[in-house]
Amino acid sequence: MNLILMGLPGAGKGTQAEKIVEKYDIPHISTGDMFRLAIKEGTELGQKAKSYMDEGALVPDEVTIGIVKERLSKDDCNKGFLLDGFPRTLAQAEALDQLLSDMNRSIDYVLHVEVEKDELVERLTGRRICPTCGTAYHVLFNPPKEEGICDKDGDTLIQREDDQPSTVKNRLEVNLEQTQPMLDFYSNKGDLVTINGSQEINEVFNDINEKLKTIS
Ligand code: AP5
Ligand code: ZN
Repeated sequence: MNLILMGLPGAGKGTQAEKIVEKYDIPHISTGDMFRLAIKEGTELGQKAKSYMDEGALVPDEVTIGIVKERLSKDDCNKGFLLDGFPRTLAQAEALDQLLSDMNRSIDYVLHVEVEKDELVERLTGRRICPTCGTAYHVLFNPPKEEGICDKDGDTLIQREDDQPSTVKNRLEVNLEQTQPMLDFYSNKGDLVTINGSQEINEVFNDINEKLKTIS
């Protein structure tokens, strides 16, 4: 199963990705997570990505395409993969298309999780993440059992640096601008599936599952 999970910042990609990869046992490839790990480890990639991410801008295409290419060549991707947050520009979508065609592979579905902009701001500013395992919570919509503490490992939750209100605004603007040409690209190919992301988390997952059942 080869999938792309697409949606504006805060649409619930990470939340749904966690459920999809658990159920279908495929690797979760999130470019945002890869960049955050590189920053944490202080690598050259992390140094390149940090300034863009802090401003809510996109990391340059050639850098992003390079890391995805390397990741998709790993053996665990032979059974399928879930790309989360990539592609995010038309150039990335075209590069991915070429890459997959060179590998004799193709995308089954592009799942586009759609949510209104005002709701996204509320979701991003109320998000708290676990620095150890990366799980995302929300202070109102998806709170942990004990306030401020990760259910899985007991670590103290933090706010992502790019979830500050001023950065959130820029992230949404940048992504809104880049999204439509990419949606048109996948719609023309017949791969695009629109998912209503404004429902409760498990309802969104049910809709995704209904679609994934049709892949043999
Ligand atoms: P990335 O990490 O991909 O961030 P993003 O796209 O901005 O998306 P988020 O992680 O913020 O949101 P999400 O959709 O995963 O939502 P979540 O499930 O957490 O990228 C970060 C940065 O890296 C970019 O800005 C860019 O600089 C760089 N980058 C990454 N990929 C790149 C690329 N391809 N090209 C160039 N640069 C790239 O949910 C959000 C909140 O809502 C949570 O609190 C959650 O609990 C809550 N929530 C989720 N679902 C629901 C629901 N159904 N109802 C109510 N609340 C919900
Ligand atoms: Zn945790």
